Amino acid sequence: PAPGWSIDADVVVVGSGVAGLTAALRCEAAGLTTVVVTKARLDDGSTRWAQGGIAAALGEGDTPEQHLGDTLVAGAGLCDEEAVRILVTEGPDAVRRLIETGAHFDESEEGGLELTREGGHHRRRIAHAGGDATGAEISRALVEAVRARGVRTIENALVLDLLTDAEGRTAGVTLHVMGEGQHDGVGAVHAPAVVLATGGMGQVFSATTNPSVSTGDGVALALRAGAEVSDLEFVQFHPTVLFLGADAEGQQPLVSEAVRGEGAHLVDADGVRFMVGQHELAELAPRDIVAKGIMRRMQEQDAEHMFLDARHFGADMWEHRFPTILAACRANGIDPVHEPIPIAPAAHYASGGVRTDSHGRTTVPGLYACGEVACTGVHGANRLASNSLLEGLVYAERIAADIAASHAADGLHTRVPHPVPYPEVPAHPLLAPEDRFAIQRIMTDGAGVLRSAESLTRAAEQLQRLHADAREALDENGKTAEPGVDTWEATNLLCVARVLVAAALLREETRGCHWREDRPERDDDSWRRHIVVRLNPDRT
Ligand code: SIN
Repeated sequence: PAPGWSIDADVVVVGSGVAGLTAALRCEAAGLTTVVVTKARLDDGSTRWAQGGIAAALGEGDTPEQHLGDTLVAGAGLCDEEAVRILVTEGPDAVRRLIETGAHFDESEEGGLELTREGGHHRRRIAHAGGDATGAEISRALVEAVRARGVRTIENALVLDLLTDAEGRTAGVTLHVMGEGQHDGVGAVHAPAVVLATGGMGQVFSATTNPSVSTGDGVALALRAGAEVSDLEFVQFHPTVLFLGADAEGQQPLVSEAVRGEGAHLVDADGVRFMVGQHELAELAPRDIVAKGIMRRMQEQDAEHMFLDARHFGADMWEHRFPTILAACRANGIDPVHEPIPIAPAAHYASGGVRTDSHGRTTVPGLYACGEVACTGVHGANRLASNSLLEGLVYAERIAADIAASHAADGLHTRVPHPVPYPEVPAHPLLAPEDRFAIQRIMTDGAGVLRSAESLTRAAEQLQRLHADAREALDENGKTAEPGVDTWEATNLLCVARVLVAAALLREETRGCHWREDRPERDDDSWRRHIVVRLNPDRT
């Protein structure tokens, strides 16, 4: 059925983190009528939770070439070098423009940006704000700029599907909106350019650093629309997440890499620094190596967690440099000034996503992807710490430039047919909200930081059963869960989980953050390549 309301725009941006809001601001500045739609409030995505900072070759003696080198090493042979080169060369100016937009970064006593280190970086090149509240400051600045410049926004708007014209070109999106007055219910934004900036899918696992809104909506939409998705098997597990118990679920407090960058030690229960001798950078090795080092030690000692010891920072440094982490630890009964912090790896970042070229274009004309939802090729098999905010910035600017250029060249707006044809979509089997927890358990057990053919096959079968049950209920009794945010989120999670598991099963090697216990070696002969998935959109 046709949506109950619709609005027209030149561009609709889906999502409101660093990628989405930067794209929206640049599109608006280029004179394009822009609408931002976002599932919850404007600042509810992952950007707000980013701690460590934003990486760019801004320090004395640092160069984009060195940043490139560190990124390629972390990416374990699968980065697209051209995409990384764009990131690191355009990065420093993109950060300067972010500062001009209103973000305040911490400065050193000499007056320049204060830069820290994180895993995999051979230089101090991470700019930060409010000590360890970088994402919150970036989000604040961008939300304020979007409001000040009058960019139209619709909150509480869950994106459903892509609209396309008869030639398969993007014509907008459908949305389910709640509590936003004139735009309540199912509606549509018609636009010839759609920018997906919906963030990640960390909620596909039981314990994650991601907020509850990170449910893979953009990747699921892109798959349903027939776009290509790549590298989904490369889920990054952050090494140091505050350990709140083996059965802790949902969003867990992050303990930034920057804590190690400033000299904290990873130790076991006996106080032994187990990363020393494993890698030349010890605790500051790339993230996959540190996460594996921690998991290995946990297995050897049959321990549920390891520790991060930063007592030597002292109270002053903790309070000034890491106030967010200090508060999160204390809220959970741990005082890092006086005791080591219990930590364990948890799901953190999707290195893969909707496949794009170097202008953020996906394989569906008019559909762009940016930020964590995208796979531009910059992260390869393992993202380098603090490259994600930078990727969001740099590629959002490139997308806005590309949309503006196409608009100037062929008057994008005239391409959206009126009325937009609403396709007869086959009824979609929606999952019940509580299926979300079943998916998370299946994924954590079978496709978590340690994987094998056996665990992945089990996960694939369990996920297939959930899908088959929902399909059967629809086909036999016409029954499906009531459409709403919870049911769509569970359905999207299942969609991305199935593709993730299939890719992880296919990749019979260990590389970057994909760790197969049954295939412990990296296999460059067979696997120095990407797994690209495209679903048949007629099948649900
Ligand atoms: C952190 O602060 O450790 C997170 C940095 C990142 O994920 O890039």
